[in-house]
Amino acid sequence: MVPRHVAIIMDGNGRWAKQRGKERIYGHYEGTESVRACAEYAAEAGIGYLSLFAFSEENWARPEAEVSELMRLMASSILNERPTFRKNNIRFVVVGNRAHLSDALNKDIDGAMEETASNTGLTLVIFLSYSGRWDIMQAAGRWAADGAPEGRLDDYMATSGIPDPDLLIRTSGEQRISNFMLWQCAYTEFYFTDTLWPDFRKAEFRQALDEFASRQRRFGKTGDQITQEKNDSK
Ligand code: IPE
Ligand code: IPE
Ligand code: MG
Repeated sequence: MVPRHVAIIMDGNGRWAKQRGKERIYGHYEGTESVRACAEYAAEAGIGYLSLFAFSEENWARPEAEVSELMRLMASSILNERPTFRKNNIRFVVVGNRAHLSDALNKDIDGAMEETASNTGLTLVIFLSYSGRWDIMQAAGRWAADGAPEGRLDDYMATSGIPDPDLLIRTSGEQRISNFMLWQCAYTEFYFTDTLWPDFRKAEFRQALDEFASRQRRFGKTGDQITQEKNDSK
């Protein structure tokens, strides 16, 4: 079965560049090619939502030169990828603490989001200036301000309207969540690969989907119960 929502922690750009004796930004540039390849493949494979962790709240602490290069790259990618969105019927969404982004970048983001709002294919969610703890805090704050209504906090999360990820992929060999969707990944399947993000393309993505298809998700129940449910629904 194809997962409805795949999330990716795109890691290893800096190391990819270093291996080639190049500046870190070179890896970030090459990484945008992987973004395009994975978005196109996700659209083709019938995945509903592809979430990409592009820049964390903690990443603001990187050297100023790298941060500004990354922001420049973000802005140019958003402008350059508009034809990709059109061609593949992709809806583009940005999630994160947008108060920390520049006005110019926010304007480009709004433009791309408006232009693709009625696309009905893949929803591509870019996490920019995002952290899981920030998300929980802002959601809890707004929930409390609304008089703490009964029900789910999900409606207040920055990802409201987006189903929880079924599969989370992290590249580059690191096996940690690094403050990504802490709340939303409660029952997400994790997949770790040593491949660095700039080398993660269609074949690597397909391999992760194959591995996902072989897993049994139990959501706290027993394996026998899940098998029974599967048989009953046949
Ligand atoms: C991921 O690659 C991209 C961002 C976090 C912006 P890194 O830049 O973290 O690359 P490594 O982990 O240093 O190799
Ligand atoms: C996680 O990667 C954030 C993104 C991919 C945007 P990092 O490279 O920032 O994570 P750590 O610092 O190795 O945990
Ligand atoms: Mg990293």
